[in-house]
Amino acid sequence: MRVDRFLSNLPRFNRKQVRLLLVARRVRVDGIAISDPHHEVREFSRVECDDEVLQEGRPARYFMLHKPMGCVSATVDPQHPTVLDLIDEPDKQDLHIAGRLDFNTSGLMLITNDGQWSRRLTQPQTKLPKIYYVETEQDIGLEYIKKFREGFYFAFENLTTLPAELTLLGPRRARLSIVEGRYHQVKRMFGFFNNKVLRLHRESMGPLRLDSDLAPGSYRALTLEEVARM
Ligand code: URA
Repeated sequence: MRVDRFLSNLPRFNRKQVRLLLVARRVRVDGIAISDPHHEVREFSRVECDDEVLQEGRPARYFMLHKPMGCVSATVDPQHPTVLDLIDEPDKQDLHIAGRLDFNTSGLMLITNDGQWSRRLTQPQTKLPKIYYVETEQDIGLEYIKKFREGFYFAFENLTTLPAELTLLGPRRARLSIVEGRYHQVKRMFGFFNNKVLRLHRESMGPLRLDSDLAPGSYRALTLEEVARM
């Protein structure tokens, strides 16, 4: 919300007072005096006027989890353990997943209470590269590389996938970088060649690599620097 609207919504200030407060630079958001009425105030922002705190700001929280296989990317599931079951934090109901993985896919998963951050990360326009380690049932041919670059037509969504970079690591092992996150995308891409994906593991999302110290099922908070880098 814009700071002028945030202030006008408080019973104590009318519009004129808000304008004057801003012009006099008496309002601080996250410690910085501001005069721009469009400056954004979020639920996480600390807002002060002179020496008075108008909003404390909820702490924004960001975690990286090593998702194990056999666990659902959901907050609740009647049958299976969920990734949220692995998180031992207060106010867990505020947390959500930024970029789901299938039941048997393992690897890097981001969990946060910051909806704006997770939306930006996962929306297709952001084109955040996600890197997967893949093992398949059949050999992976050299012709795959060209096809992954050209894209696959997904009839259900009526779209062609954006260029993806496939690197062969062995006859049935590869590393794949994709910038989208369509439903079962990697499995559908290999499915084009009737080649079943037997193992799928997300190694990184953009600049963030899964911490090698994190065993499957464990997690840690992101550092401020990592949050900013994303
Ligand atoms: N693509 C898939 O098919 N599954 C995942 O879990 C992630 C990407």
